[in-house]
Amino acid sequence: MAIQYNEKKRIFSLHTAHTTYQMMADSHDYLLHLYYGKHAVGEMDYLLQYMDRGFSPCPHETAPERIYSLDVLPQELPTVGTGDYRVPALMIESEGGIIWTDLRYAGYSITSGKYSLPGLPAVYASAKEAQTLEIFLRDQALGLQVSLLYGVLPELDIITRAMILKNTGSEKLYVRKAQSAVLDFVSGEFDLLTFPGRHTFERSMTRSHVSGNCQTIGSRRGMSSHQFNPLMILSDRTTNETEGRCWAMEFVYSGGFKGEVMKDQFGGCRMQLGLSDELFRYPLAPGDRFASPEVILSYSHKGFSALSQSLHRCIRSHVCRGPWKDKVRPVLVNSWEAAYFHFNGETIYQLAKSAKELGIEMVVMDDGWFTNRSDDYSGLGDWTVDEEKLGESLGSLISRINAIGMKFGIWVEPEMISEISELYKAHPDWALSIPGRAPVLGRSQLVLDMSRKEVVDYIFERLCSLLDQGNIEYIKWDYNRCIAEVYSHCADEQGRVLYDYMLGLYDLLERLIVRYPDLLIEGCAGGGGRFDAGMLYYTPQIWCSDNTDAIDRLQIQYGTSFGYPAAAMGAHVSVCPNHQNGRITPFHTRAVVAMSGTFGYELDPAKLTEEEKNQVKDQVALFHKLAPLIQNGRYYRLTNPAENLCAAWEIVSDDRSRVLLNVVIQDVHGNMPIPYIRLQGLESGRMYHEETLGITYSSDALMDAGMPVPIQDGVYHAFQLIFTRLES
Ligand code: GLA
Repeated sequence: MAIQYNEKKRIFSLHTAHTTYQMMADSHDYLLHLYYGKHAVGEMDYLLQYMDRGFSPCPHETAPERIYSLDVLPQELPTVGTGDYRVPALMIESEGGIIWTDLRYAGYSITSGKYSLPGLPAVYASAKEAQTLEIFLRDQALGLQVSLLYGVLPELDIITRAMILKNTGSEKLYVRKAQSAVLDFVSGEFDLLTFPGRHTFERSMTRSHVSGNCQTIGSRRGMSSHQFNPLMILSDRTTNETEGRCWAMEFVYSGGFKGEVMKDQFGGCRMQLGLSDELFRYPLAPGDRFASPEVILSYSHKGFSALSQSLHRCIRSHVCRGPWKDKVRPVLVNSWEAAYFHFNGETIYQLAKSAKELGIEMVVMDDGWFTNRSDDYSGLGDWTVDEEKLGESLGSLISRINAIGMKFGIWVEPEMISEISELYKAHPDWALSIPGRAPVLGRSQLVLDMSRKEVVDYIFERLCSLLDQGNIEYIKWDYNRCIAEVYSHCADEQGRVLYDYMLGLYDLLERLIVRYPDLLIEGCAGGGGRFDAGMLYYTPQIWCSDNTDAIDRLQIQYGTSFGYPAAAMGAHVSVCPNHQNGRITPFHTRAVVAMSGTFGYELDPAKLTEEEKNQVKDQVALFHKLAPLIQNGRYYRLTNPAENLCAAWEIVSDDRSRVLLNVVIQDVHGNMPIPYIRLQGLESGRMYHEETLGITYSSDALMDAGMPVPIQDGVYHAFQLIFTRLES
């Protein structure tokens, strides 16, 4: 049984293969956190210590003794007003403006399978793969019931948490803050890993010491954002890729979020993640419910690589859906960097034709195919094919492309509207904007109010009429600005708009995948501005970054790999000098880096040299050979490319029989020392043969002494080495 309940002590233990999570409903009916760590039997209530802590107040019924304070005790759902001055997870305001919530334990239920959340993406699992614990907390006076939901996926070492709030009283309530998951540690010296960035440089792993200050990350942009990713990892100070304790929180949500980590006055540490509470005040009328999005939790005592591998498995098999989640995705060529807005139907056809000759399987017509779209100042929202520009109908172009054996995909940006568009003329109030004020523009566009059903219905209809024009097998779903004005022209309460926006977006995506079950959708938001587990529930891959430079990508993909599998990372080979930073890298290196993602090209194959064309043919063939390993294997980060001359990472098949080692040398020097790379995850006591070098190695020596990386003149050389375990 993954979930155990000790009735006498009212202790709940959630067990996975290698971890245990434990909490207790104590004698005062508070739900206290006891333990999250290495798999353990027994009860850990001895960890809680009770003593007079002076200025830390006590709930009334415990006051005579003065040794019980929620300011000190580790909790599962800390609220405001109970005497806990650390960061609260839940803040509820009554209709009369009182902010005070005192939640007490009111029962539980254990069911097989994994809970789902109304209208929100969430980890899914069968009755055999998961169990759900629901703990009920109640504030009778306020009229609030909270269902704390815990999903336990034992094989994956994954626990999920979310909550459903219900107004059981007779007055309106407002949800002012709702953090979905909280981890309270009674002691520890920790580091925090976060993933800040910017457009064209997303998810740079950053490690800092958790000191007395509260560290806050998040996004107030209405999207998970380029600037911070909704992923946080707490670790011991000495934890590295292979050793040490670490805990991950990953948000299954694509809108604004807030992550907080604080060390308290007695050396305890609180970590929590959930919705951004700025511009948020969600009304709950009597009888209404509110679901907080889910957080995925995982723990490893064997360092960051093992932690990431659990998250990868969870995302690949229990977040991503649809026929494409386990299939190798088609190698595509995208028109953006090849032609930008300057193309017609023939350009796209020729792109397809020259790509086909090299083994590429799909052509994607990026931005610029619809009316009023000769640049990025206009046209969003109408989604009418510009037949004049294309020189033919979309149906005819797709048929011609299909006839030469190529698949066809198209770019859309459904959540946006341009001021210069028929849609804006007809419905200016469909954009999020403040009445009487000139709208703030991002890339000269506005954001549609997806909290309104009629807007979602309209976009759904436009997308269907587009997709019905021909055999469209892929769409790139873009989102190229952040929300600035949180104002819906038809909402009764503006504090609900950002959350309702996400429900509208998820509803639209859900309707689309139900209607077009075979469609492959790649998420995108100015590159990787919405790279999160929420989007991955609908789109099994996301364009990782608008930055296609292989060397910058080393750090971007390295950071991304902490929380997300290679199968989800959109990565393409582009031309040099690179369009984002002007760097020149070898063609081979660009392919090695892009091959650790979904793989494709962002260039015009007809303009390649004969040698490059031959390389493309080899690369596509190699990708087909390696794709199942890359997509499903265990990912090991061997070096941090921001700190090492060599960027090295490795993918090992589950049965450890095949290994792909990737190395990029980021700098050269005269008379250079030889870099050695130590492999990981091989089966001990076995021999592995490497194909290109023709050398057979001892697995233990490869993992212990490592192997030398060949040095060559010139910059940015890359190696891709494939090892096979010998059978005897
Ligand atoms: C965004 C995307 C790019 C491209 C352009 C088109 O920036 O990230 O890949 O599709 O939009 O306008």
